[in-house]
Amino acid sequence: MSSTIATDLLPLPQPQTDSIGRHIHYFEETDSTNTRALEARADGHVFVAERQTAGRGRHGKRWHSLPGLGLWFSVSLAGPLCGANFAAALAVRDAVSPVVPLTIRWPNDIYVNERKVGGILVEQRHDWFALGVGVNVNHDRADFPPTLRYRAGSLAMATGQRWERAQLLKTMLEHLDAMTMRLRRGECDSVRAEWVVACDIIGRHIRRGGVSGQVTAMDDDGALLVRTDTGVRRVACGDISIVR
Ligand code: BTN
Repeated sequence: MSSTIATDLLPLPQPQTDSIGRHIHYFEETDSTNTRALEARADGHVFVAERQTAGRGRHGKRWHSLPGLGLWFSVSLAGPLCGANFAAALAVRDAVSPVVPLTIRWPNDIYVNERKVGGILVEQRHDWFALGVGVNVNHDRADFPPTLRYRAGSLAMATGQRWERAQLLKTMLEHLDAMTMRLRRGECDSVRAEWVVACDIIGRHIRRGGVSGQVTAMDDDGALLVRTDTGVRRVACGDISIVR
């Protein structure tokens, strides 16, 4: 689609990859890039939007996708594919960490300086996956709705500099390509193990709803196994508080 607005997402980057990002579809506006990716069923194709009108996060939450400020994109991937969630978070971290260290906060939030700067949403329809990545790039504090201002951040807020989104997209796609190649070579376990270390949650005391205790392990799906006074409980999703 041609653009009628000035954007640093154009011209689109040409990542040096084997599979992901050889075709990048740009939208000035779409409902959700994950929907585009799920509908396309085109392995490795990337869908990036300047603005999403119905961007979604985990648990049906709305994802704020203001134009010109963030990087909102999804990759269409053919299944079977185990560990896409883990691979995506590691790829985002690795793409940015040479400039500013990002942390992965369980289950798959991207943080810097105690502020959430990004998230991952992997969705599956039949044998096809949409691997959706949202990163707040050039937002100032005032760009977030008041309810998010105290906990949302951006790469620009963390570094004091504006980021070029096309270059960032290119770097992320190159890291995603390398990670998904690993998954497809059967290295799901080692990618998952890397992700477990990156989450840095084993041994922590957490609280979620009525569950309070120490995380002793993660299962194959990335759910937490928590030792509580009444036995081991499994925490699969939701916002947790880290007590210590
Ligand atoms: C979360 O932290 O809850 C996950 C947020 C994922 C947002 C991205 S933006 C691109 C892609 N399209 C969507 O509708 N959601 C993901």
